[in-house]
Amino acid sequence: MTPEQLVSMAKEAMTHAYAPYSGYQVGAALLCADGSVYCGCNIENASFTPTVCAERTAFFKALYDGHRDFTAIAVCGGKDGVITSQFPPCGVCRQVMREFCEDDFILYLIGPEGFETVTLSQILPYSFSAKTHMSQPREEGR
Ligand code: THU
Repeated sequence: MTPEQLVSMAKEAMTHAYAPYSGYQVGAALLCADGSVYCGCNIENASFTPTVCAERTAFFKALYDGHRDFTAIAVCGGKDGVITSQFPPCGVCRQVMREFCEDDFILYLIGPEGFETVTLSQILPYSFSAKTHMSQPREEGR
């Protein structure tokens, strides 16, 4: 799986968005350590708060299927599905990534012309994580 392939899967995932309120369609493609890919889109709600982001949709699908090791995620978004700028993950999604990913987890932030490659530690410095801040870190594989 090349970065370019993951990027194109994220762009396809955008088209699955349910975003009648904001009009922003967001797509994510999550690469697991075993090479499998899980895609996600944002799913909005009339009550707003239940809205879930594309990144978390992808993560939760993969987690449900038993995946715990992740390599990279490609993300894109834009009004009516048109990418005019990068669409970096929100703070809640970054914290979900922190739970399961290492500092070197890669993010491909897709823009109108190509993509930028960043790591989780770059976009979430001084983070709170189970490994360093909880007395009973999660068991490996659980
Ligand atoms: N959104 C995502 O899907 N991912 C993010 O990281 C940021 C925001 C969605 C949520 C909502 O449906 C729309 O973008 C506008 O906030």
